[in-house]
Amino acid sequence: MDVKKMKATVPWMMMFFLVLPATFPGCFSSDSQQPNKKKSTHPKVANGFGSSVLFPLTGNVYPFGYYSLSLSIGHPPKVFEFDIDTGSDLTWVQCDAPCNGCTKPVNDLYKPKKHVLVRCEHPSCGAVHFPGSPQCETPDDQCDFEVEYVDHGSVTGVMVTDLFSLRLTNGSLIRPRLTFGCAYDVKNPGPYPPPSTAGVLALGNGKASILSQLQSFDLIRNVIGHCLSGKGGGYLFLGYDLVPSSGIVWMPMSDGVKHYLSSPAELLFGGKPTGIKNLKIVFDSGSSYTYFCLRVYEAVLDLVSRGLTGKPLNTVHDQALPICWKGPKPFKSVHDVKNYFSSLTLSFTNTRNIQLQLPPEAYLIVTEHGNACLGVLNGTEAGLGDFNIIGDISLQDKMVVYDNEKQQIGWVSANCDRLPNLDSDYNEDIQQPYAANFGILEENHPATQASSKSNMRVHKREL
Ligand SMILES: *[C@@H]1O[C@H](CO)[C@@H](O)[C@H](O)[C@H]1NC(C)=O
Ligand SMILES: *[C@@H]1O[C@H](CO)[C@@H](O)[C@H](O)[C@H]1NC(C)=O
Repeated sequence: MDVKKMKATVPWMMMFFLVLPATFPGCFSSDSQQPNKKKSTHPKVANGFGSSVLFPLTGNVYPFGYYSLSLSIGHPPKVFEFDIDTGSDLTWVQCDAPCNGCTKPVNDLYKPKKHVLVRCEHPSCGAVHFPGSPQCETPDDQCDFEVEYVDHGSVTGVMVTDLFSLRLTNGSLIRPRLTFGCAYDVKNPGPYPPPSTAGVLALGNGKASILSQLQSFDLIRNVIGHCLSGKGGGYLFLGYDLVPSSGIVWMPMSDGVKHYLSSPAELLFGGKPTGIKNLKIVFDSGSSYTYFCLRVYEAVLDLVSRGLTGKPLNTVHDQALPICWKGPKPFKSVHDVKNYFSSLTLSFTNTRNIQLQLPPEAYLIVTEHGNACLGVLNGTEAGLGDFNIIGDISLQDKMVVYDNEKQQIGWVSANCDRLPNLDSDYNEDIQQPYAANFGILEENHPATQASSKSNMRVHKREL
């Protein structure tokens, strides 16, 4: 069906910068900050064990630049591949309304039927536009949306509600009706091609997120975890069941923002203080690399370069990233080169001393030309203003958990190459052995998921 295309005036834009509180401390500051108040959320009575969904992931930091999963939507269900993004909260899929700028062939687009359109006055339209409000000429208007990403890419479309097919970890299939965006105008002005995925699964903590909806139906707890393997692939889960009961360190999230913003951090290099403190950082699985704002970026560049003095590495131009080095012979993997570099550490100082270790593997890639390149980028140049972002490169080989109920982010080193086995890893009494059925219905798995070589790229849509 044709949907009514949006008029030129955009009622509200979900721009990354708009959601910042006016008091955001910026790049970093040396002032000490008030300790975070922990939000008193009352975790709901736990659902029975098994009320989680586990998805295998495909993708990598380099050369793909993203991690993705498959989800079945509609009736009959159709499988779409989604880029996973904890940096935004509106899930959308390319949609035949018809579409401008969609990258998928028409037959692979989501086809909205008339009854799936969300009405402008419906509360879920309000959630999409929160804290603004939708502009409805009549209550029966469709609910328009626009998402603008930091890299100036944008998507415009209309909100729809349709069935999602999700396989719970206890084996049951649930088919909740969830609200998401049907994108009919996709713009990607950046120098890099857009991801080859059909859409973005937005896992940020806004009211409109898929996870908030699942929680409001009392189906799945508002908790997300991902384990991105450095070798590619990994897994993502929704719900509480796969959160390890020990070993994980927890950091309170900063209040009042839609993003997963850390409490203030101090930066260490090789275990030593750098003088950089009160850094606030967004955890963003939608960003391939890590970004620091100007002063921090320049300090890191300086420390890393000075650390290489006397080592057999020389700077070299490589189109993959701005700062690269070559060795006496081409490197095969980041393990060939990591001994030349020191670890970065983010030390979150507010509560107790919690650290996020960034060994060289968490900030370097080895390119197809065998050069080692710095996966930490100049955030100011990327238009991030004073933002710092921890992207996929620095989140690899850890289980990272975003607990929106307790308002905390946790992490623990993990082997992300192996999907968790609920029986042996969690030693719980589940009713059905959890085998090959993951979040989506097996029979709908696309056969050619990993064959996107022609779509390889280095950068993805940021955030
Ligand atoms: C799995 O969990 C859901 C939600 O708690 C429950 O409704 C369903 O009955 C469970 N299925 C099985 C097979 O135990
Ligand atoms: C970072 O980007 C800013 C803004 O484009 C630029 O002025 C600055 O020179 C850059 N710094 C480095 C070290 O690239």
